[in-house]
Amino acid sequence: MELVLGLESTCDETGVALVRGRELVADVVASSMEEHARFGGIVPEVASRAHLEALVPTVQEALSRSGHSLDDVDAIAVASGPGLVGSLTVGVAAAKALALALDRPLYGVNHVIGHAAVDELVHGQFPDRVMALVVSGGHTSLLLVDDIATGVTELGHTLDDAAGEAFDKVGRLLKLPYPGGPHVDRLAREGDPTAIAFPRALTAPKDRERHAYNFSFSGLKTAVARRIEAYEDSGLAVPVADVAASFAAAVAEVLVAKTLDACDRHDVDTLVIGGGFSANSQLRELAASAGAQRGIEVRIPPLKYCTDNGAMIAALGSALVDRGVTPSALTIGVDSSMPLETVSV
Ligand code: KG4
Ligand code: ZN
Repeated sequence: MELVLGLESTCDETGVALVRGRELVADVVASSMEEHARFGGIVPEVASRAHLEALVPTVQEALSRSGHSLDDVDAIAVASGPGLVGSLTVGVAAAKALALALDRPLYGVNHVIGHAAVDELVHGQFPDRVMALVVSGGHTSLLLVDDIATGVTELGHTLDDAAGEAFDKVGRLLKLPYPGGPHVDRLAREGDPTAIAFPRALTAPKDRERHAYNFSFSGLKTAVARRIEAYEDSGLAVPVADVAASFAAAVAEVLVAKTLDACDRHDVDTLVIGGGFSANSQLRELAASAGAQRGIEVRIPPLKYCTDNGAMIAALGSALVDRGVTPSALTIGVDSSMPLETVSV
């Protein structure tokens, strides 16, 4: 089986991995997250420069851990979208240079679909049809996967904020450090999820048809902001844990309800959850319990394969090689808003 090198540089992680078939051979991730923390968000130019510095050493580290040399690599996969343009450009330029120098095929792939593909390295080959919920700081997408390399249909996405982004914004409202997501999660575990009735967007009967599988979290974030202001205006202490718990419950309930409805409607009994937000405990608990109740197997890879990494890109590259998909031209560009039905370019 062919040895596929995967490069990921869509946001703040430089990920490099080697995959053979569905076996992960080596996987190294360098992150520039600490350089962004003091700005309270990812600074694209800082991220691009960090990729430039990290890329070659990360490739060398992955090769040395695998015991392979560049000559052993049979194909090169790279995330060519969606993501930050400057960051993507660094990875794609490196992948093209390697493909040209080694005379190997190049596959420019969709990094969001990679978030689902990586689960095959952990939990084995997908059954004929799986549902994939990809949730991160930048994405909230529901994908129907008939074949990870050739048959992905986008059922829905967020109309505004991504789930992780909403958590980060609520973290800021609650004056928690950036990124706020994990802090809101921790506080939520100490609070009462039924304390405040926050809205569940796009779940009303009138939205069922048009937005059955779309999400919206910006109204929820505004509702949280108004509620915090109301406490402050009346001189009351903000019940931080209850606010966090009620907010987190609203996010998890909508994500899980819509996803499981999609599974029912499309006759799917395996759900894969990927992306950095799948670390969220409220989502994990509800997906596991509600999934079990409805006979749906819920697969979530370990956290290090949920945040951006090279393994997911190599895994998707390996699936493309396996299905005999035509490689990408060496002239490909990057696509910061690559459509989610495009698996490779
Ligand atoms: O996939 P990821 O590492 O980065 C990208 O967005 O590409 O996802 C990170 C996002 C951030 O918004 C972070 O705050 C959120 O996921 N996050 C969480 C948790 N862990 C990470 N949000 C809620 N609960 C968590 N435990
Ligand atoms: Zn990602």
